[in-house]
Formats: sequence, structure tokens, C-alpha cells
Amino acid sequence: MPRRTIALILAAGAGERIDSHVPKQFLKIAGRTLLEHTIDVFEKNGNIDEIIMVTNPEFRSITEEIIVKNKYKKVTKILNGGATRRESSAIGVGAIDDDSAKVLIHDAVRPFVSDRIIDECIGALDKYDAVDVAIPSPDTIITINNSNLIDNIPMRRYMMRGQTPQAFKVGVIKKAHALAAKEKNIDVTDDCSLILKYKLGGIFVVKGEEQNIKITYSEDLHLADKLFQLKSVNVPERIHLSGLKGKVVVVFGASRGIGKAIVDAAKQHEARVYGFSLENNIDVRSMDKVRVALEDVYKKEKQINHIAVTAGILRMGKLESRDVKDIADEIDINYLGSVNVVKASIDYLKKSKGSIVLFTSSSYTRGRSLYSVYSSTKAAIVNLVQGAAEELYDDGIRINAMNPERTATPMRFENFGKEPTETLLKPDQVAIATLKTLLSNLTGEVIDVKSGN
Ligand code: CTP
Ligand code: MG
Repeated sequence: MPRRTIALILAAGAGERIDSHVPKQFLKIAGRTLLEHTIDVFEKNGNIDEIIMVTNPEFRSITEEIIVKNKYKKVTKILNGGATRRESSAIGVGAIDDDSAKVLIHDAVRPFVSDRIIDECIGALDKYDAVDVAIPSPDTIITINNSNLIDNIPMRRYMMRGQTPQAFKVGVIKKAHALAAKEKNIDVTDDCSLILKYKLGGIFVVKGEEQNIKITYSEDLHLADKLFQLKSVNVPERIHLSGLKGKVVVVFGASRGIGKAIVDAAKQHEARVYGFSLENNIDVRSMDKVRVALEDVYKKEKQINHIAVTAGILRMGKLESRDVKDIADEIDINYLGSVNVVKASIDYLKKSKGSIVLFTSSSYTRGRSLYSVYSSTKAAIVNLVQGAAEELYDDGIRINAMNPERTATPMRFENFGKEPTETLLKPDQVAIATLKTLLSNLTGEVIDVKSGN
């Protein structure tokens, strides 16, 4: 039997350093509570088998509601926490019966923990009994005494800032907490301190991430809001395109550039592919045309599994001098077109539990002069994907936004002239990334496609 891996999420703090009506883990950012964002990561991570929650008794019912509403399947226990983080952690660890299991103890208020960190912690436990996550300190760390005078300045290159999760073999961390429980005054803010204090073994350090911040002060809430807005993920690598065989793939914007490359790549992997564009008289600006296109495919195939919308235009120029009709066209093709396709696809994708990708651009994070309209339609696409992903989640439909770096497409050459092609992504690289995304479990994400991928 493979060992079980359990995430223990500590959410029993009062959040006194942030002035608010509820503890910080229940504050909403990017539409959801911090607690939900954090549980989501562990719920979706394929290497986590079970989640145990430790919560503040007063807010237990909110925690229960959150778990029911999100249909989290991995949460097995909700425990009442203690007066300190250490006590909450001890309560959680104590509820795990299997001493050979692995446990990852994580702060509920670190919603940006990545799958990479989680997976490396779990992997390191094959060799070590205890694992911490830390990042180098950019600041020089000083230690002070009770009179507020410096008493030591350790060498910066040995200074790391601890994050969570901290991961342990259950038996080992249980023993640490049992020893700590016998002491009167014990002042630790994390679990690894106990392993160190009682010399229970070497603690391996996994590389953390700058963005794996702990929400502690109100400023962190603003930062977290921005981080969520800009959060993107890499192309899911472990997906085999053989999964496309016999699947029906529909591409809007199929006549050239990335759209054409997706058609070609999907055909190569034996999907049944249908491409639409102005060339076969399907203008995404028209809901009727989009509906007809999808109906025709469905009549022939009796299913539609994956849809990509690459139709888009970029018109450069200052707003002041641009023609109103031309601006409206750009908005309609880039934005309304995607809305139309998403809306018209829902019934088909409900049946197939399929997926859809739209296209954004790196300019979504900040408007660009001379293409303010284009960049704002691309920001709109990201918001559309995030909102629609939540609406469609229960139907089993996944929707994501591809965010390719500069790509060697006709659209790019028309607007930016000839650029050295070795600095540009090739349309078929973007096509492969798109097809992998369509086959993945991801939803509501912005997928960065970089030339390294
Ligand atoms: N925590 C806990 N039980 C406690 C104290 C803290 O489960 N008695 C959890 C918090 O909910 C948080 C994590 O430990 O997820 C990290 O602690 P911290 O940032 O200190 O959170 P709070 O204790 O809630 O905040 P503060 O110290 O500002 O009151
Ligand atoms: Mg605290």
C-alpha cells in the first residue's frame, strides 16, 4: 500500500494583525475567501489524498459551509483549533492515526502555494523525516535583545525566510508535539522548530517562492489581490496528445496563424477537426453564424469535445485618431466573438464534459499605448475565462486562456514588421500548448506559453 499523504490546513488563528470583522482566512480576494483559494490548491493536487482542517470553533460553521459549497472531496475532518498555532497543529497531527503517513502542515493564509512546492515536499519525505520550505532573505537579518539593541548580524547568505508547508512523517511530528506538550513555556511559531529543538532528525529545505506569501498585515491583502489578478500557470507538460484521437476539435479563426497551426496539429494526432473563419463565412461576431457552425459539426459527429477561439485582430493607433467603426470591429472580433463561442458551446460541452480555450496576450496585465483597445479586449478575455470557469465548473466544462509570448504570425508581422524569427514563438509550439491545455484538468487559468516550453 502506498503511504497516504495528508494536508493539514491551519485556519484557527484570530488574525489580530489585520483589523477586520472576521479572521483573515475568511476575507475574500478575487471573489473567494483566502481559505478557499488555499484548499483549492491541495484539492486539485494529484499527490494529496486527504485534507484535514483545523478551524476556529466560532467560525466552524463558515468553514463547513465553504467545504459543502465547493464540494471538496478530500476534506475528511474539521477540528477545533487551540490557542496557539502550535496547539492547533498538535490537534491536527493528533487526529491522524497512521504514523507512517506523510503530512504537510500549511497556513490557511498562504493561498499562493504551488504544486511544485507541494510535490517537492512530498518527494523529499521519501528521504527525510522533516521538510521545510524557505526562500533566501534579500534583507540583512539582525537579531536584537530586550533593550532593542542589536546583538548579532548573521551572515546573510545563510539566512532564509521560512514558509509553509512544512512536511513530516506523521510519527515524527507527533513525537515532537508530545514532547512539547510536557513543557510549560514553549514559544515556537512553526513545527520544524520542534524537530530541531528535540533533535528528531535532519530537516531538508525545499526551495520556496517569493509569491508564497503569508497574509499577515492589511497591505498583504492588496498585494494578494494583485497576485491573483496576474496569476498564470505553465503549460501542463505531462499531457499526451494521443488523448486527442477520435475527439472532435473545433477551431474558430482557423484560416491562418495560430488557429491554422492548431487545426494541423490536432489532425496530426488523429482528432476530427473542424476549422471556421471568414473564409468559410463564419464570422464570430455573429451569434447565429457561430451557432450554425457548431450545429453542423454536432450533426455530423454527435459530439464536440474541444473548442479553441483564436479569431482576433490587432489595430495599432492612437484612440484619438482611430475610426469608431474600426474600434467596434476590434472589440467585437476579439471580445464579443469569444463570448459568442463560449455561450453557443455550453450545451455541447456539458454533454462531452469538454473544454474550451480563448486567447489573451501578455498585454492583458497592463494596457499598452497605441493598442489600448487590443490590450483591453485581452484583459476582458481573462476576466471572461475566470468568471465563466466558475459558472461552468459544476457542468464539468473547463475554460482557460492561452497567453503566448510574441509569436511568428501574420498578425504580428503586419503590425510589428519583420522581427528576428528566433526571438518569436512558432505557431506550432503555441498549438501544442493549446491542445495540451484542452486535454488537461485546468480551468479558469491563464496559461503562459514561453519559448522555453
Ligand atoms: N493558526 C491556527 N491556530 C492558532 C493560531 C494560528 O491555526 N491558534 C493559523 C492561522 O490561522 C494561520 C497560520 O496559523 O493560517 C499562521 O499564523 P498567523 O499568520 O500568525 O495567523 P494568526 O495567528 O491568525 O494572525 P495573528 O498572529 O496576526 O493574530
Ligand atoms: Mg499568529
